[in-house]
Amino acid sequence: MDLESLLHDRFAAAFAAVAGGPADPALRRSQHADFQADGALALARRLGRNPREVGAEVLAAADLADLADATLAGPGFINVSLHDDAIARMVTQVNADERLGVPLAEAPRTVVIDYSAPNVAKEMHVGHLRSTVIGDAAARVLEWLGHDVVRANHLGDWGTPFGMLIEHLLDVGEAEAVHELSVGDLSGFYQAARAKFDSEPGFADRSRARVVALQAGDEATLRLWRLLVAESERYFLNVYATLGVTLTSGDFCGESFYNDRLAPVVDELKSLGLLRDSNGAQCAFPAGFTGRDGEPLPLIVRKSDGGYGYGATDLAAIRYRTQELHADRMLYVVGNEQRQHLEMVYQTARDAGWLAEPAEALHVGYGLVLGADGRKLASRAGGTVKLADLLDEAVARALALVDNTDLDEETKASVAHAVGIGAIKYVDLSSERGKDYTFDWDRMLSFTGDTGAYLQYAYARIQSIFRRGGVVPDRSAPVLVTHPAERALALQLLLFPAVVALAGQTLQFHRITVYLQALAGAYTSFYDTCPVLKSEGEVRASRLALCDLTGRTIARGLDLLGIAAPARM
Ligand code: ARG
Repeated sequence: MDLESLLHDRFAAAFAAVAGGPADPALRRSQHADFQADGALALARRLGRNPREVGAEVLAAADLADLADATLAGPGFINVSLHDDAIARMVTQVNADERLGVPLAEAPRTVVIDYSAPNVAKEMHVGHLRSTVIGDAAARVLEWLGHDVVRANHLGDWGTPFGMLIEHLLDVGEAEAVHELSVGDLSGFYQAARAKFDSEPGFADRSRARVVALQAGDEATLRLWRLLVAESERYFLNVYATLGVTLTSGDFCGESFYNDRLAPVVDELKSLGLLRDSNGAQCAFPAGFTGRDGEPLPLIVRKSDGGYGYGATDLAAIRYRTQELHADRMLYVVGNEQRQHLEMVYQTARDAGWLAEPAEALHVGYGLVLGADGRKLASRAGGTVKLADLLDEAVARALALVDNTDLDEETKASVAHAVGIGAIKYVDLSSERGKDYTFDWDRMLSFTGDTGAYLQYAYARIQSIFRRGGVVPDRSAPVLVTHPAERALALQLLLFPAVVALAGQTLQFHRITVYLQALAGAYTSFYDTCPVLKSEGEVRASRLALCDLTGRTIARGLDLLGIAAPARM
């Protein structure tokens, strides 16, 4: 069991004995000691007793002898100082463990993660970038914790725009269309279609007729639609490969997938009495959602023209995910601006009985990416930034950063890729997910500060110790605690499991980056004060073990975020 769970359990037992039932020990890291348990204050209030007395009773009941010294402080806080040999013993165990002390989930869940979800024949924008990066981190963390993860790339591959897109495809010719889409000129293609639709009545009429043909399943039309989808998917897969995210072609499960599940969804909602007519459209009015005027807000399920909208598809998807995929946790990694839509979908699904405990649906929302001017990130011309260009620029800037190293050209290129892409992911995952963040190349691409490159460099430096010393890590070497900096590093290493667990629960990945920064800091202090290769015997073996474990923890932490850790930089 990991350190924090162990301490928590020991204190929970002592608190329960004093309280006569469960009571939260309120254990946390402390400035004054290693940990502190503040639960005696709340418990005393509950029991109407003196908090110091309650604290003293908890202390007397706590079974800590093999682990720590605990003392009472202030009005009833309990300070916990771990025994050096307990730290050493636990780190020795963790070092021998492939999983770095992180346990597999006792009750694995089937988690569907709805993320990335770009739209066919439309450029991915930075919002899709955030969804892709955050969703990928969620998939990696939850999978590593032992959950069954289903990656659901809810591609926007259906709807009225396909009428004009197909007509435009016919105008330019298949070969040219395929060329434009495969080189990633998605917005050019889309905008050209849009412009004709807006200015040429004949084109608009053809487009509308084409939508009808598409919905009716006309084979010739479907073939052209498939062409658009396939070329766009190919382009998105290129972006995913550059980004190094775990999404594959098998994870596309676009809106069109639900086409034949839409009518049953409407029928079921109707028979449950959950649909009402609103200006000719069939709508659900989930409780708790009202507009400015206090009127209930509609979730449009079937439009007045008989077509199904975004909402209907999301309802069909949630029903499919719970009933056919047997998902018990569904994560929607979608921008904050779609929160209300998603909450309305969840509530309607609950009303229909498609979403029930223990299954849960959670909106994993995120803020905007801002440019230096404090506004939504835009290209110089004011349009959306092309994602592929952004990634190329990151790698080019990273290459300039590593250009003066003595690495060979090939290594330089791969390091630049790792650093550039890592910088983009790191800035995203290290900021508080729900908030906006500012895209600032200079701050992102630096070897100092709260950056991915700083952690990558820390990892590479550790690897160079083993290269220089010509030693292979011995994972069974006993770790000794002989110096305060060793102790601080060892303790920090023991905190990794709780951090990963917390990131898996909250899907706040800055928990991991904050932890890794603290770990790299503790390592630097250790390395500055404790000679490693120049020490001898057991101490040398122990310090090498600490270096090795630190390196593996940094690499694993980065990997959970989807960031590569090159062995040399
Ligand atoms: N394609 C949508 C967009 O670009 C995002 C889809 C999010 N997922 C969902 N199930 N609604 O905005």
